[in-house]
Amino acid sequence: MSLQHFLSFSDLTGNEVRRILDRAVELKGETRSGIPHDHLLRGKTLGMIFEKSSTRTRVSFEVGMLQLGGHALFLSPRDTQLGRGEPIEDTARVLSRMVDGVMIRTYEHEKIERFARYSTVPVINGLTDHEHPAQILADLQTYLEHRGDIGGKRVAWIGDGNNMCNSYIHAAHQMGFTLVAACPAGYDPDPAIAAAAGSAFELVRDPRDAVRDADLVVTDVWASMGQEDEKSARRQAFSKFIVDEPLMALARPDALFMHCLPAHREEEVTTEVLEGPQSVVWDEAENRLHAQKALIEFLFAA
Ligand code: CP
Ligand code: NVA
Repeated sequence: MSLQHFLSFSDLTGNEVRRILDRAVELKGETRSGIPHDHLLRGKTLGMIFEKSSTRTRVSFEVGMLQLGGHALFLSPRDTQLGRGEPIEDTARVLSRMVDGVMIRTYEHEKIERFARYSTVPVINGLTDHEHPAQILADLQTYLEHRGDIGGKRVAWIGDGNNMCNSYIHAAHQMGFTLVAACPAGYDPDPAIAAAAGSAFELVRDPRDAVRDADLVVTDVWASMGQEDEKSARRQAFSKFIVDEPLMALARPDALFMHCLPAHREEEVTTEVLEGPQSVVWDEAENRLHAQKALIEFLFAA
């Protein structure tokens, strides 16, 4: 029994991810067929600290815990002592004595790492400014269901070298696919993550160079949560980074399109692509539920 956190996508090996994804597909099948699995985590609890807004992350973790027979608590800094300055180290030690796991969505990645250092229960990253690993699990499950294993494939990331992009680079390295990111200068992903990925990662400046022959095209908002002040500067910097039909036409004919959502139509992606036949964004959103159930089961059993 060893304590296992999921703060970064690199916290799991490729084999562990593949096991979790297979289990996610299995749990999804059971859920869809109405086969209950509420014995799996009966009586277990997940504390969920949200310092930023959320629709998918909150609902998927909460519903997931319920379907596994456990319970999730929504903890907003507005109405907990965290918002009044109680140290994260103290909160971690107190919550650890009451709940079986903690999910955190916050700004600084360092904060979740500090929490994890003091936690005696698994800590899950529900998004920081630096990474969004839970979303990548859902993306990989979606790819698996539609096209099979992602190993050896070419994935194009278009736009900001943000939290999603950083986690995708880790995933490329762990899972054996190539991630080609097209980012405007000044908006590159974390250079340390990029360097650690070696030949699994490539950075280009022209979205067409990233998308050519891609099996999967992924994008995200131009301004993430917390970057609202940079909106107009970013709109200018990213104006050539729209995923539209002419761009998608350069990818492989069977390429899929993904977006973690929420999306800004006619900014990073056109309505035609988002609602088009290559888009699997609704499956991707649903898979947050299934992939995270498998993740929680894995972490709680460690
Ligand atoms: N994709 C994602 O994390 O969505 P929410 O911000 O709604 O949780
Ligand atoms: N990059 C986005 C993802 C939202 C799910 C953000 O951090 O706001």
